[in-house]
Amino acid sequence: MSRYMVTSALPYANGPLHLGHLAGAYLPADIYTRYKRMNEHDILFCSGTDEHGVPITITAEKMGITPMQVVDKFHSIITEDFKRFGISFDNFSRTTQPEHKKFAQSVFLELLEKGHIVPRDMKQLYCPNCNRYLPDRYINGTCPKCGSDEARGDQCESCGTWTEPFELKNPQCGICGSTPETRDTRHWFLLLDHFQEWLEGWLGGQSDWKPNVLKYCNSWLGDGLRERAITRDISWGVPVPLEEAKGKVLYVWFEAVLGYISSTKEFFAKAGKDSNEWKKYWQDPDTKLVQFIGKDNIVFHCIIEPSLLHGLGNYTLPWNVPANEFLNIYGQKFSTSKGTGIGLGDYLKHFDPDPMRYALAVNAPENRDSDFSWLEYQSRNNELADVLGNFINRTLKFTASKFEGKVPDGELDMDLLNKAKKASEEMAFLIDSFKFKKAISIAMELAREGNRYFDSAKPWKSFKTDKEECARTVSSCLNLCASLAVVFEPFIPFSTEKIRRMLVLPELKWSDAGTVLLKPGHQFAETEILFKKLEDGFEKIMDKAEVVIQEEKMEETPEVDFETFMKIEFKVGKILSVDDIKKAKKLYKIEVDTGDRVRTVVAGMKNHYSKEELEGRLVAVVCNLKPAKLCGVMSHGMLMASDGESGVFLLEPGADAKPGDTIK
Ligand code: MF3
Ligand code: ZN
Repeated sequence: MSRYMVTSALPYANGPLHLGHLAGAYLPADIYTRYKRMNEHDILFCSGTDEHGVPITITAEKMGITPMQVVDKFHSIITEDFKRFGISFDNFSRTTQPEHKKFAQSVFLELLEKGHIVPRDMKQLYCPNCNRYLPDRYINGTCPKCGSDEARGDQCESCGTWTEPFELKNPQCGICGSTPETRDTRHWFLLLDHFQEWLEGWLGGQSDWKPNVLKYCNSWLGDGLRERAITRDISWGVPVPLEEAKGKVLYVWFEAVLGYISSTKEFFAKAGKDSNEWKKYWQDPDTKLVQFIGKDNIVFHCIIEPSLLHGLGNYTLPWNVPANEFLNIYGQKFSTSKGTGIGLGDYLKHFDPDPMRYALAVNAPENRDSDFSWLEYQSRNNELADVLGNFINRTLKFTASKFEGKVPDGELDMDLLNKAKKASEEMAFLIDSFKFKKAISIAMELAREGNRYFDSAKPWKSFKTDKEECARTVSSCLNLCASLAVVFEPFIPFSTEKIRRMLVLPELKWSDAGTVLLKPGHQFAETEILFKKLEDGFEKIMDKAEVVIQEEKMEETPEVDFETFMKIEFKVGKILSVDDIKKAKKLYKIEVDTGDRVRTVVAGMKNHYSKEELEGRLVAVVCNLKPAKLCGVMSHGMLMASDGESGVFLLEPGADAKPGDTIK
């Protein structure tokens, strides 16, 4: 039996998490952990919120509350959302807990003593306008590596490079935009170059790691590792444990990666276990440390953290770091700091966790960025309903109506059960190699096989002609249902629990797949609905999330001067007729009389108004908008409408206004 320590990147407690986070580091870790638990491995899954650093203080400033209030608020939101999505952490801690602080400080002192950390007098950027030093994210500028303008003083959003404030070209104060000046200060540096050679050897031995991860590391090593400042001039963080460093804190990345260990310690402390128990997971060479992260965290987990652990000496090093690429949404980036994307809590207000877990597992950004769309989600949800849900449902319904809800006494079709066994073995190999996407497709294929089997055996016919044959089909299908409850468990645990409840089965082990779990005479419970199919347009309910993206774009829009505004021609129009547009789910083709002419306008009103409600109505029209083709139809204007949580409402000129009247 192997021992595993599984971690997921500690999310910043500066906002609610979104689907991108879930797909990148939490869902894969949970799938892996659940699968290992079913194999009865000794496995511990720990994480927590990252509660220090500039992302938190920036949020506090924006929200007008203290950093502690920020992290309290978001720690509880994040914890709750994870719980509801079924992310089964053994412990979910916080980096503001006192034990973590002590531990991070002790690591700092130990590395200082060993000579891996040294103080340096240096210059730092200071904003004369804001009267403060500008660490990390308080500086914007141009990336020295890729030239992107989206770089900050800690990292380039675009290429992921870890930047130092000084390396940025055209640095600007992130708060007020002024050009910073330089001042003298003292900081402590981690001498990463001490670890270059060792890392080359160690990483060189990890040929089974994901190629994208190794490529990234090699590019870092190729550039040559340099010393990095690991202290900062801000007040929010773990204080540097030295008298002469008053007012300085440890750099968030230095202490955050140690948060995994603190979380493990906290787990055992809470359980009232021996205070050395955590060492089995962090200081025993037999433990396999598996760290799930997004690609933007690779350098911290594959270079920095191993260096710290190696520098300390007696720690377990990562056994694998299966980093994922990013999940985008309609081609845009999910981003907490920009407030774009679909929040976990927002999603859960309307939908169940499992369909999203399934959709994200199938569409995981395992080897390249993937894109989330509601259309894809809908088809994955409906696949669950049509294939898995349908098979379980028809099998149980048939058993209920023909065999009093009991497993009939029939010889089993071992070929069918062997298919389940084989599928579970193939899946095991894939999950062990972090190929969850492929693994889940095999599970779904097995459910499909169940439907094919049911269709071709036609038990509703054999029931009348050959009872024995019918009993054989039904008991085989029932046992396949039980196997499906096994192989789907790591992916959609809420649904497999329901299946087990219907089948009256206890918790199952992975090796139970393809075995006879249901004996003749076994009585089932009432059937429950597993998945609800989604109709077109179901996502309307979530429009709010899309609004988040639009608002963000609007924020970036510069002010408009009066002259420019006056160039826009607003007029009263009267809707003459409304038609559907082929293949367009949200759009109408609308003919509007604007006095001067009748113009065709394409408007996204279909989900909000019926044709009858629109015809004859007076509306406010933007007439001189540049014509644009939408779903094959040229649109010569735009109807003005309000758009908010309450819905979409057309603006209405007074009843006596005439088509062609100008609106100012
Ligand atoms: N808070 C960081 C992020 O969200 C990740 C930290 S992972 C850790 O990108 F290991 F450093 F904690
Ligand atoms: Zn400033």
